[in-house]
Amino acid sequence: MSGTSPARRTVLRAAALVPAAGLGLTACTSGDGGNRSAPTKPVDLGAADEVPVGGSKLYTDEHVVVSRVADDEYKAFSSICTHAQCPIEKLQGSRLTCQCHGSQFDARNGKVLREPAVTPLEELPVKVAGGKIVAGPGAA
Ligand code: FES
Repeated sequence: MSGTSPARRTVLRAAALVPAAGLGLTACTSGDGGNRSAPTKPVDLGAADEVPVGGSKLYTDEHVVVSRVADDEYKAFSSICTHAQCPIEKLQGSRLTCQCHGSQFDARNGKVLREPAVTPLEELPVKVAGGKIVAGPGAA
């Protein structure tokens, strides 16, 4: 006999695999199948009245945030974080918070409120057509 029983070899092999299995990636997860881009064409976001004057609304599926800065004036921004491209999924008032590393942005103007991001959110063309908000390249 070699001195190492099959049972012991099994235990050693299992122990060797544990660290490898524990090294899961800690990259951002979005739950959207890896789609991490703002619209590349105009997208219909629904009723314009859903965004109150002075308010903001986050459209997580489309990766767009819209703010209604006046009765008939809307601003739209990509909600893809400019730090490492995580889709932002949290909006409180007009403050967007990226869950990946904590960057914060102002949904009314796209400006960075808290680092690590240093680049403002990308502004998107936006218009209201037939009572619906349409945002994305080519919308305006
Ligand atoms: S990807 Fe948003 S803070 Fe890092």
